[in-house]
Amino acid sequence: MSGKGIRIEGLRKRYREGDTAVDALKGVDMQVAPDEMVGLIGPSGSGKSTLFKCLGAVIDPTASRMTLGNEVIYDDGWKVRDLRALRRDRIGFVFQAPYLIPFLDVTDNVALLPMLAGVANEESRAVVSSNASPSHVDWSIDRL
Ligand SMILES: Nc1ncnc2c1ncn2[C@@H]1O[C@H](COP(=O)(O)OP(=O)(O)OP(=O)(O)O)[C@@H](O)[C@H]1O
Ligand SMILES: [Mg+2]
Repeated sequence: MSGKGIRIEGLRKRYREGDTAVDALKGVDMQVAPDEMVGLIGPSGSGKSTLFKCLGAVIDPTASRMTLGNEVIYDDGWKVRDLRALRRDRIGFVFQAPYLIPFLDVTDNVALLPMLAGVANEESRAVVSSNASPSHVDWSIDRL
């Protein structure tokens, strides 16, 4: 991502279930600068996961304008044609519940995304290894 980082304007999300509706987000504004590290804290049910799922194109916002880098990705409708590529290439999630693939080792769990994006298997694994520079991560990948 380049340029302006992440900008969320007026994010609303209403979950509907039959006759009931839950307003999980009621107009959230948020800006994250490039390279800024932000932690989102709040009580259970306050909408943290909902915000990330909207930003990550996992669910549809009810209303919002969202900008990623220099690109408007949502403006009361998705503005990105290939949402799968957006999820795969531009937004990374570590989910609250772990969704590791049990028959893959640690390296291949991490390398799976570049593999799905068409990078050769060995090249994908090499990227994982070269990014795992802290010694405890090297240790984990070697031994798990
Ligand atoms: N799929 C859904 N259908 C209906 N309501 C939902 C759904 N997902 C979340 N909600 C409701 O939306 C609100 C926000 O939930 P959300 O999971 O985003 O909160 P959270 O801040 O991530 O909570 P936690 O800290 O427990 O993970 C809650 O009232 C929750 O019950
Ligand atoms: Mg959550």
